[in-house]
Amino acid sequence: MKPLARRAGRISTSQTVAIDAKYKRLKAEGKDVLSLGAGEPDLDTPEHAKLAAIESIRAGRTKYSQVTGLPELKDAVSRKFARDNGLSYPPADIIISGGAKHCVFNTLLALVEEGDEVLIPTPCWVTYPELVRFLGGAPILLPTDMASGFKLNAQDLRKAMTPKSKLLILNSPGNPTGAVYDEAELRALADVVVEHDLYCLSDEIYEYIVYGGARHVSIAALGAEIFARTITINGMSKAYAMTGWRIGYTGAPPALAAAIGAIQSHGTHHPANASQYAAIAALAADKSFPDLMRSHLSDCRELALRRLAAIPGLLVFPPAGAFYAFFNLHAYLGASYRGKTMATSMDICEYLLDEHLLATVPGSSFGLEGFMRISFANGLEALDAALDRLEKGFRALLPA
Ligand SMILES: Cc1ncc(COP(=O)(O)O)c(C=O)c1O
Repeated sequence: MKPLARRAGRISTSQTVAIDAKYKRLKAEGKDVLSLGAGEPDLDTPEHAKLAAIESIRAGRTKYSQVTGLPELKDAVSRKFARDNGLSYPPADIIISGGAKHCVFNTLLALVEEGDEVLIPTPCWVTYPELVRFLGGAPILLPTDMASGFKLNAQDLRKAMTPKSKLLILNSPGNPTGAVYDEAELRALADVVVEHDLYCLSDEIYEYIVYGGARHVSIAALGAEIFARTITINGMSKAYAMTGWRIGYTGAPPALAAAIGAIQSHGTHHPANASQYAAIAALAADKSFPDLMRSHLSDCRELALRRLAAIPGLLVFPPAGAFYAFFNLHAYLGASYRGKTMATSMDICEYLLDEHLLATVPGSSFGLEGFMRISFANGLEALDAALDRLEKGFRALLPA
């Protein structure tokens, strides 16, 4: 048989997905397994969104519609960008796609060529470097650490510039750390982006999920020059508990928006109409659902941070946004359990799943070994029960 395309060898299933698959298999086998792995809110999709989808199906809106999204949804997203982010993307420059992940993929397809360098502050969402590599680009992982709040600064970005630098990917609030960039930090990065004529992909999927005094700022709102170079990506999955509906949206400079539209026209055409009608209803309602989500997740965050603080040796980064706790587990690397040494964060995650029936995600999945990510988006009782297992698992690794 002839070989697969070379690019197929440059992409692999994410470890996050692999652990989730094992968790689901154990669950299907009837094991009492719990998960702090998947990045998915536990709340149900708002009823008005579900009803709008059902109504659209009953009304027969089940045929092909516009490639870049239903005009009504693009209008709603355009208004949302103006209202919440101070961004003026006309509907023509907005593309509705199958989740923010699809928006990222479309954007990278339209921008990244062989050899292009894409700058990615790390730890980062696993999909960014995988897709860049898949497309023949070079992901340039710019390390950040806990001491600097897991945020890239302008000096480090400037130092990484080469003639091949093409695009900076920002994700604030961020997965896996929950770091949120403030306006001054974004301004400093925007200056470098403009100075070096880069593009900036701003993934704002966790926009509404911020805690305490943290405030989300869209980098594209910081001036005409950065707006002209920024692709702003967001979606319905996190704030509206609509992960399975697969609706994300992109606001892009006109030429790029047109290219993404053409790519989508031959790739997936458009996301399911029913999902788009659900998104229209969700965006048309007041903010009470995202507010409820934020306050629920704030309670979860408090519980998770309290429970993690009680586990000896874990150094926890307090997240200002998103719904993950990211912590340093160096105190446990090198520990052993029944003759097996915990050499990596993946070893510890496998141990927790095999021995304590608890799914978690290793820091290595996000480009930072020696850390672990848990998602605290869960019912409080279920979260507490899962954290019992986490604590028991870590304590069992401590020397007797
Ligand atoms: C940073 C980031 N961007 C995008 C996504 C994907 O969102 P969607 O469900 O809209 O594809 C995720 C999901 O985990 C994420 O963490």
